[in-house]
Amino acid sequence: MNSIEKPIHSRENLQALNEKVMVALDINTTEKALELAEQLEKSGCWLKVGLELYALSGLSLINKFKEMGFNIFLDMKLHDIPTTVEKTLKVLTASGVDMINVHCSGGYEMMARAAEVCHKADKRIIGVTVLTSMSGDELSAIGVQGSAEEQVLKLAKLAQNAGLDGVVASAQEAKALRQACGKEFLLVTPGIRPSWSEKNDQVRILTPQMALEAGSSYLVVGRPITLNDDPRKALENLWR
Ligand code: C5P
Repeated sequence: MNSIEKPIHSRENLQALNEKVMVALDINTTEKALELAEQLEKSGCWLKVGLELYALSGLSLINKFKEMGFNIFLDMKLHDIPTTVEKTLKVLTASGVDMINVHCSGGYEMMARAAEVCHKADKRIIGVTVLTSMSGDELSAIGVQGSAEEQVLKLAKLAQNAGLDGVVASAQEAKALRQACGKEFLLVTPGIRPSWSEKNDQVRILTPQMALEAGSSYLVVGRPITLNDDPRKALENLWR
């Protein structure tokens, strides 16, 4: 693990910056996830729970994280007919979750009904536009015409019109999305690497500072924190 130095920000500043960080708990046991959460307690950061941890631990772990004081983004990427998504979100929004997501390619009606359920429960709902794992060839094989970036912007506008609060997007797309969707639209961006961290399998990366400057609202950061010997210090050192 790379060594990390002292933070350059004041305590108050750090708390405000941490509130923009969603730590991706891509972890395969409940015990390890809880241990990590204990190390990050009271830092102000969010926790992002993905499909693997949700499949293992379900809403009981999410409610436990909530009791510990975390905000939680449940990265479910729902994609189904509007009625099924609506009914699923009724169950999920009755938990300690604060933000959930759906695939924008599920269409306007699905997103509009998702937004209604989530907002009624005072939760945020965001959209997944184009998975960054999809190449141009793969997109055209499923019938997408135009570039990935055009598709991202098209789906983000559709999501906004349907009432979603924002989208998950590469930090590299944040500037164009901010311009297209305005300053209130939430941009949740993975692919973040501080200068001291390994890249792992991420290719198009931005530092936390650069991502904020590009217009990100929340930064999704996983391995630079979760694989660090001292996750709390790694979180605090995102900003140096
Ligand atoms: O460990 P790392 O910081 O690369 O983790 C990034 C997180 O963001 C993972 O949970 C990954 O699934 C997610 N993600 C991503 N790229 C996307 C969408 C989500 O890395 N385009």
